[in-house]
Amino acid sequence: MRKIILAGNWKMFKTQAETLAFVQDFKPELDELPEGREVVLCVPFTDLAILSKSLHGSQVSVGAQNVHWEETGAFTGEISAPMLLEVGVRYVVIGHSERRQLFGETDETVNFRLRAAQKAGLVPILCVGETKLQRDRGEAESVIFQQLKAGLMGVDQASLVIAYEPIWAIGTGDTCATDEANRIIGLIRSRLDNKDVTIQYGGSVKPEIIDEIMAQPEIDGVLVGGASLEAKGFGRIVNYK
Ligand code: PGA
Repeated sequence: MRKIILAGNWKMFKTQAETLAFVQDFKPELDELPEGREVVLCVPFTDLAILSKSLHGSQVSVGAQNVHWEETGAFTGEISAPMLLEVGVRYVVIGHSERRQLFGETDETVNFRLRAAQKAGLVPILCVGETKLQRDRGEAESVIFQQLKAGLMGVDQASLVIAYEPIWAIGTGDTCATDEANRIIGLIRSRLDNKDVTIQYGGSVKPEIIDEIMAQPEIDGVLVGGASLEAKGFGRIVNYK
């Protein structure tokens, strides 16, 4: 059975004080959350511990936005899986396009991070997606297949989430047409050994279009950036109809 996972990606937003204020406003949004939906918040490292504590006993899981493949070592600026586990993290976003484009993340380092996360018991959320130029050239499918092939080498598909995030749709307000997102996600699924992997759509997901997105048969959830920063709006997303 495919699990439905609705995840927020806060990127580099919110201090600890702002995190606590969000939790206070967000908790009531969970009162009537339908069964069988998992909610995840992937937040900056400094917010992880306080978020875990303040969400204890709720249906929300905590996620990080990166993890290194070694457990300890001379890797200034990185964070390891045991460090994340200690503060209650369950999920970790890996290979987000911002990491690939701005911080030199490659398919190879994405693969290292995925395997290390799984080995430690974290569930990785692998992000894949094409640029506008690649799409215009008709290369979207081949780019995504390459990201999957290289990223998933040696990865256990029993404990994995994939997010299809077309780069041109991220933070632009230019959401991918829902039937097209559904088509690409179906193609991604066809390449997997485990057909039950949760595959999310991400890229300018908004409360106004969540019902339409979640009505698509291949789409098992969303990875939400900007619209996850506001409790009411994200509440509407997790309570999609
Ligand atoms: P967005 O970001 O919802 O702000 O477009 C999505 C993401 O980067 O995961």
